[in-house]
Amino acid sequence: MTSRIRKVVFPVAGLGSRFLPATKSIPKEMLPVVDRPLIDYAVEEARNAGIEHFVFITGRGKGAIEDYFDHAFELETTLGERSKEWALKALSSTQLDHGSASFVRQQQPLGLGHAVWCARDIIGHEAFAVILPDELVLHERGCLAQMVDAWNQKGGNIVAVAEVPEPRVNQYGIVAPAADDGRIVEVKGLVEKPDPATAPSNLAMTGRYILCPEIFKHLQNQRKGAGGEIQLTDAMAATLGDVPFHGVRFDGQRFDCGDKAGYLAANIAYAMRRDDITPRLAELIPDLRTYKP
Ligand code: UTP
Repeated sequence: MTSRIRKVVFPVAGLGSRFLPATKSIPKEMLPVVDRPLIDYAVEEARNAGIEHFVFITGRGKGAIEDYFDHAFELETTLGERSKEWALKALSSTQLDHGSASFVRQQQPLGLGHAVWCARDIIGHEAFAVILPDELVLHERGCLAQMVDAWNQKGGNIVAVAEVPEPRVNQYGIVAPAADDGRIVEVKGLVEKPDPATAPSNLAMTGRYILCPEIFKHLQNQRKGAGGEIQLTDAMAATLGDVPFHGVRFDGQRFDCGDKAGYLAANIAYAMRRDDITPRLAELIPDLRTYKP
């Protein structure tokens, strides 16, 4: 087993039904936040955490994601001929080293756990990261890099956790905490969407994971959980006791871009950090002058 996290899995095969009709012909992960698609932010976050190999779990209608990370000969040649250097520069984040990206087809969207299981042969016997691209975390030091720091300390499984308002715990996977130093919390149990009255905490798992390869043994069962889907949470719960398991309270603001309000809030927050956009935006929407993301 390596002592570094080298590989990341991006499950991008979901239906994106909450964004229909937009996602009828555009993958949800290609929806832009300001001027970059969600998947671009996810790749950047992974790169900044030292990831070397990017595994995309795709499905029908997700070809645009592969094209996005491909060499665009015609476009680049035309931009070059027209001396649009700034536009060529904007493409730099779309270039992945040759051989550093794998695309695996999840033939049916059977759930997040199933999507991760589809990466088993490419991951092999090493710990790996999972990023759900529809969750954005705005911070100078990326959420995954913060989690790798915790993994270097604790090993095992690491999940990103955030406190959510108690009445909303029934929308998340919630951790049952044990020892807690205020940043890293030992996880002794996981409950998917608990009743607020019986929830073990208000610490919710967000869309970032570092997982031991033992997870594949449990995903192999293909057991269906909540919503009739093969759930990653169930497989993670099955590893409790076998591998260390911790949650990290990360620095940064999280946006659930799988949800319309979260997606729009992310667009405003990311635009407000851009000097080329903020003045004009504040002219158009004067109330934004007092908006603090
Ligand atoms: P979500 O449930 O948030 O995404 O799954 P979704 O299914 O695309 O969206 P809605 O709920 O229909 O609007 C979380 C992540 O897991 C991926 C999704 O692409 C998303 O990134 N996923 C989900 C898969 O790759 N395969 C699946 O079978 C299910």
